[in-house]
Amino acid sequence: MFENTIFFSSFWDWFIIALTLGGIVGVIWLIIWVNKRPAKGEKVQPMGHTWDGDLQELNNPLPMWWLNMFYITIMFGLVYLVLYPGLGSYKGLLGWTQVGQYEQEIDAANTAYGPMYDKYKALPLAALVKDKDAVQIGQRLFMTYCTVCHGSDAGGNTGFPNLRDHDWLYGGEPEMIETSIKAGRQGMMPAWEAAIGKEGVKNVTQYVLSLSGRAEANPAAAEKGKTVFATTCAACHGPDGKGMAALGAPNLTDKIWLYGGSVESIEKTVAEGRQGKMPAHGDFLGDAKVHLLAAYVYSLSAKTEDTAKK
Ligand code: HEC
Ligand code: HEC
Repeated sequence: MFENTIFFSSFWDWFIIALTLGGIVGVIWLIIWVNKRPAKGEKVQPMGHTWDGDLQELNNPLPMWWLNMFYITIMFGLVYLVLYPGLGSYKGLLGWTQVGQYEQEIDAANTAYGPMYDKYKALPLAALVKDKDAVQIGQRLFMTYCTVCHGSDAGGNTGFPNLRDHDWLYGGEPEMIETSIKAGRQGMMPAWEAAIGKEGVKNVTQYVLSLSGRAEANPAAAEKGKTVFATTCAACHGPDGKGMAALGAPNLTDKIWLYGGSVESIEKTVAEGRQGKMPAHGDFLGDAKVHLLAAYVYSLSAKTEDTAKK
């Protein structure tokens, strides 16, 4: 088998050890060398450097407090090197590692917050939404993990759905929201230009516009597009264009657009397809956090429902 003698020999270990200890020995030697105290009765001598007319450098010994600080730092360094890893592959008496410290902190966090998360995990979503603390924890989790894509107010952006409204690609029941977060979602809108041609794309786009009552709809083209829609699009978007939550196919009859509602963006969507991806968060965050996130997201549209009623 191939063996890399550079990295598996102990040469670099000793190299590091020699550098580290050599540095410390060098520093000690430097102190002793510069710290020659004058013999009793010997006068302080100028070093031969003079500035600004009368400012002279003298060979006064180093002040004691300064020297002692130096010795203390050297002692500290040596004790540190005995206790912690610092000399080649020597592990140190305490056996400390970065990984070990990380795991210890995670364990401590799990012990501290575990029971709280377990409590929330056991509550059904309908109850969790009414728990103010739970929703607040959900919001903080959202700020950490979701805002890059959905925005800090969950209002979404082009390609990233708004989570505050009542329009859902995959369904707005709490369980559907939880599934979206836990398992992720993969939107699959095929590209159609090759199958229906440029004309077909233009016509069916006009028909799509007419579904939401748009004034710019070109009635003649829309009429041609209607046939294309029935044969090509209805399978996923439904015969009336109202969408299908099981496939994440959006409702095309409303004024809410995931990829923009201009003629150009709809034509682009139809010609080239769209594949929005919501990453799965279940393995990464664990069930309890996903549960709290679902409660928070659900609470957003529940809130707008309240204000809509007023
Ligand atoms: C990398 C970007 C990204 C991140 C991070 C992300 N999402 Fe999404 N999310 C998306 C996209 C894109 C979609 C739409 C998928 C599609 O087009 O089919 C989506 C869809 C959703 C849906 C379904 C919406 C609907 O209308 O049915 C929910 C709920 C959701 N995300 C919640 C979250 C939560 C909660 C988080 C944080 C844990 C999160 N997302 C993090 C990109 C992201
Ligand atoms: C295989 C199922 C499927 C078929 C067939 C299909 N679509 Fe889609 N369509 C989708 C999905 C899923 C999305 C959402 C993509 C995403 O989330 O990234 C979508 C998105 C769209 C959008 C964007 C809506 C928005 O809110 O921005 C338009 C417009 C659209 N489709 C029109 C059509 C038209 C017109 C046809 C027929 C030529 C068609 N679709 C055929 C599944 C389909």
